[in-house]
Amino acid sequence: MACFFRRRVALQLAEVCGLSEDVFIPLICAVPVSKKQSSADLRVSVNSLLQTGAVPADGDLQRRTQALANQMKRDAVVEEVSAARGGIHFRLNRLALAQKLLEQLSSDPDGFGVKSELLRHHQGGRALVEFSSPNIAKKFHAGHLRSTIIGNFIANLKKALGKEVIRVNYLGDWGMQFGLLGAGFERFGSQDELRTHPLEHLFQVYVQVNREAECDESVRSAAAEFFRRLERREEQALALWGQFREITVDEYKRIYQRLGVHFDHYSGESFHHHQTQSVLDELMTRGLLKTSQKGTAVVDLSGAGDMSSYATLVRSDGTSLYITRDVAAALDRKQRFGFDEMIYVTDKSQTVHFQQLFHILRAMGHQWAERCVHVAFGLVQGMSTRRGEVVFLEDVLDEARSRMLNNMRQSSTSKELEEPEQTAERVGISALIIQDFRGPLMSDYKFDWDKVLQAHGDTGVFLQYTHARLCSLLRRHVRETYSCSDVSPLVDSRSVSVLQHLLRYDEVLLQTVNELQPRPLVNFLLTLSHLVAVAHRELPVKGSPAAVAQVNTPVRFRIASMCSYLSDVLMMKSCLSS
Ligand code: ARG
Repeated sequence: MACFFRRRVALQLAEVCGLSEDVFIPLICAVPVSKKQSSADLRVSVNSLLQTGAVPADGDLQRRTQALANQMKRDAVVEEVSAARGGIHFRLNRLALAQKLLEQLSSDPDGFGVKSELLRHHQGGRALVEFSSPNIAKKFHAGHLRSTIIGNFIANLKKALGKEVIRVNYLGDWGMQFGLLGAGFERFGSQDELRTHPLEHLFQVYVQVNREAECDESVRSAAAEFFRRLERREEQALALWGQFREITVDEYKRIYQRLGVHFDHYSGESFHHHQTQSVLDELMTRGLLKTSQKGTAVVDLSGAGDMSSYATLVRSDGTSLYITRDVAAALDRKQRFGFDEMIYVTDKSQTVHFQQLFHILRAMGHQWAERCVHVAFGLVQGMSTRRGEVVFLEDVLDEARSRMLNNMRQSSTSKELEEPEQTAERVGISALIIQDFRGPLMSDYKFDWDKVLQAHGDTGVFLQYTHARLCSLLRRHVRETYSCSDVSPLVDSRSVSVLQHLLRYDEVLLQTVNELQPRPLVNFLLTLSHLVAVAHRELPVKGSPAAVAQVNTPVRFRIASMCSYLSDVLMMKSCLSS
């Protein structure tokens, strides 16, 4: 596929320049369809040629590039070579392009793009992706939702590239707040409520106990006492805490399913707090832990030994902190899972925390800390539902479904659907995800339901609509056998645009995985959908004269078979959803 063509061009460049063809493979890019002024499909920029030394930097660049282009052979695959502004352009034989791409898509659809040699460095190995990670009894805020869908995207992407992926949910399930929650539950908790509305009830208890603790010393001491009981592993206290945790995990599992998200491990801070002592011992042995004047234990991160920057690992009362548990968790994961890379997904407010964590791991001599990455994202403002500010994940999903259902009723599409609720749920959730993935992850954005659920424009609704249309076209023509070897209908200009766009797929995947940002892939899908829409508009079948329909149908069918694979894999399975 793309690499077949890239290699053909690279071979020619190698021959003319006397360099290895591998040098040129990553330099040859597909020309983006939207920016296309010429009919070229691939190009190599003069700048990149300069870097390889294929074109010497001195003298008249334009002339040298032209001379290089002139020396290159034209053949049955590479039909035209021309020196254009800034680079050399290549036009591929349309039939060869159609044939190769279709062949690839039908023989190994799952390998399409992801097996490209451009992605060589990203294939294989083991990645641990930690994401979502809500806190028991606290709000599931927009940041947790973003972490859930971005982390899921990254895990799916890595998996699609052939990596072994371990998905970890690191719950906030330990710390003083569980003293408060336990003491609160002993005062005004209800087992019945806990069973019927677990997340709501724990949240209510937590809010109430915090309020009371503010003005009531006895509540504060009851909380401290409950936490001491937990730390002493006292059976009754531990059983209640264990119940909170278990019930929360079960509830989250159910809700994550609606998002197509799953985890291999539900770990959490509680798993590692007992390992913190050995971390501190090790830091001490290495001379990295210092006692401050305030009685806390700290690690100097300044690099100059002047404590201008440091991380606190032990409070003055001897208890460990969030970062101490994170150091323990990282060491434990490395030992248990032997990952090649570890990715943490949280909002950008935790950037310094992760910098410090990685710094400490490196200072402890762990080279693999170089392959730990924090994927940070910006804040979402104004995400609310009919119940007000978002507190529970399920409310967001319900809101997406009911608003989508409403929109569908108004546009009367739901009349044709067998299960409108289920469709509304899937479309609504895709819309939520696409809206989130369209911009750079680090930007903050204002949430607006109307914008999210628009049927037109660059939305998830539009993508799902295109996908449904393609699938129904394929279903309708399933009995008609269009020979795969006859690709002549695909030389139509609308089809060529789709083919040219598909040629870019592996480059887009590379950019996506290099940046760990969904945006390039989402934009690729949106452009694909726009190209399909143009093809459908310009190649009418319904209501057209029989002769026109007869010509247009096979073209549309072929476009559908090429694109539905991609939208299917990307939207439903591989990267965007489950
Ligand atoms: N529970 C944390 C929070 O809600 C996120 C955990 C992120 N992961 C980590 N290893 N610290 O803020």
